[in-house]
Amino acid sequence: MDIREVLKRSGVVPVIVIEEEAKAVPLARALVKGGLGVLEVTFRTKAAAAAIRAIRAEVPEAVVGAGTLVTPEMARAAFEAGAAFGVAPGFDPAVVNAAKDLGLPFVPGIATASELSQALTAGLRIVKFFPAEAAGGVKMIKNLLGAFRFTGVEFMPTGGISLANLRDYLAVPEVLCCGGTWVAPKDAIARCDWAAIESLAAEAAACANCGSLV
Ligand code: 3PG
Repeated sequence: MDIREVLKRSGVVPVIVIEEEAKAVPLARALVKGGLGVLEVTFRTKAAAAAIRAIRAEVPEAVVGAGTLVTPEMARAAFEAGAAFGVAPGFDPAVVNAAKDLGLPFVPGIATASELSQALTAGLRIVKFFPAEAAGGVKMIKNLLGAFRFTGVEFMPTGGISLANLRDYLAVPEVLCCGGTWVAPKDAIARCDWAAIESLAAEAAACANCGSLV
């Protein structure tokens, strides 16, 4: 699987925070049905690895990655759960090396020119720009590109993205896709409102004009 291609085609990657494993499959089905087939399950909860396993088993049409991988152990747990890719909010060479050793495609977070430079030195060309809005938004990405475009770097901005600014980010050719929790809100997951999540996903997919991987 070419992770760049998968992310490029996704347009929007839902950032999922799931507390209960039992909700992973209906949540993934709702997102896929709405048109978002590439998912990031964050390792912020104890249910993350089990959620990834369940989605892989029950929703094979989804491509499921792992987010918030901030230690080498988390990278290993994500890999063992079957994550197709890993994402982190920051750049940590120990985590980058762990992912490399495991053969887990990895997207580190960067918010500055120095962090981007380190990611490029580590051989990575796709970075999560996080927290996108707070760190300068589209303007910051364009400024970084002024210096770094020649490297072939591409961005997955996440943090503060919604329907209101999604198109502005996706209009930058070097933005592969955007991530965000707005398509899988905590309250909708808590009340098992899968219809609401499907419609948020459909709205996002239509806005990104990405269609679906499935
Ligand atoms: C992430 O971990 O990628 C962010 O928490 C997502 O940010 P958002 O909640 O503003 O979408």
